[in-house]
Amino acid sequence: MPDRVTIVEVGPRDGLQNESSLVPTATKVQLVERLAATGLRHIEATSFVNPKAVPQLADAAEVMATIDRVDGVTYPVLVPNERGYEGALTAGATSISVFTAASESFTRRNVNATIAESIDRFRPIVDRAASDGIHVRGYVSTAWGCPFEGPIAPAAVHRVVEQLADLGIADVSIGDTIGVAVPGEIEPVMGPLLEFEADLRLALHLHDTRGMAMANTWAGLQLGIDTFDASVAGLGGCPFAPGATGNLATEDLVWMLHRHGIDTGIDLEALVEVARWISSELDRPVGGHVTGPRIWPWQGQPIAD
Ligand code: HMG
Ligand code: MG
Repeated sequence: MPDRVTIVEVGPRDGLQNESSLVPTATKVQLVERLAATGLRHIEATSFVNPKAVPQLADAAEVMATIDRVDGVTYPVLVPNERGYEGALTAGATSISVFTAASESFTRRNVNATIAESIDRFRPIVDRAASDGIHVRGYVSTAWGCPFEGPIAPAAVHRVVEQLADLGIADVSIGDTIGVAVPGEIEPVMGPLLEFEADLRLALHLHDTRGMAMANTWAGLQLGIDTFDASVAGLGGCPFAPGATGNLATEDLVWMLHRHGIDTGIDLEALVEVARWISSELDRPVGGHVTGPRIWPWQGQPIAD
């Protein structure tokens, strides 16, 4: 088990991209700034994608221009192609994430390409990023299941990660996009990746659609994985459906980690306040479980000996 975990907060991007009513740019900016004030050091801020595909994030350049950036905090953005890369660069991004998947059908619907074509698009981006000093992360979605194809073989995930590693992408986040994985399925996908020759920094990106994200996180921790993506208030999913179907709620993750004496550098009480605030801004019940009035002790003190 790691004694320190890095959390990549994806609420402003993964969470908000699913909100049906348009969130004001000022609220997005405030969300990113408030998250930074909790001690989060990696906050995925927005996406430079086709605004017709994701209208919610059409204000990406404005968000990036307005955020009051804190030293030591990175604000990665999603980039699907060179056009997106240019937008990100112009907006002053220093860290980008490219994204593909382990399933052809999902990749077609997500980025209008085959998996191979999506990776071909990354090639010039990775080259330019290397000379521009921009950090690149790679996402592999539908690693445990695809909404169109059903279960995905671990070997399909491994093939995609291998191609990302060949491009020189060392930071890779493996996504359970539709929240179908169960704890016993984490090792078959992640174990072989941990044995890869390429020196990968692996992350788990777990959606909580069926309430398994925390159990899957535990399975990942036991393998030694030390980077997890999470979304404040469990943002995401259908705003009209009761209960969060977004990513694992960041505050729940921090609570669990702190209780196990695993450091995150995050102030849980401040994070819970942000979860409450953004839920009220979006006019939805607070996602996550530790936001209720009975949370105690606040910082999730480690289990007593
Ligand atoms: P396409 O239609 O094949 O692209 O879309 P195109 O090159 O033919 O261009 C079509 C139009 O898009 C043109 O505009 C372009 O200018 C414009 P039009 O002539 O129609 O006015 N365009 C762009 N505009 C702004 N920024 C750009 C850009 N590129 C083209 N970068 C494309 C291909 C990838 C662009 C499109 O399918 C797209 O934007 N998809 C968005 C996908 C997306 O954001 N998905 C959600 C994020 S992934 C995710 O959530 C999973 C993750 O969380 C992990 C997990 O959970 O597993 C990361
Ligand atoms: Mg996601």
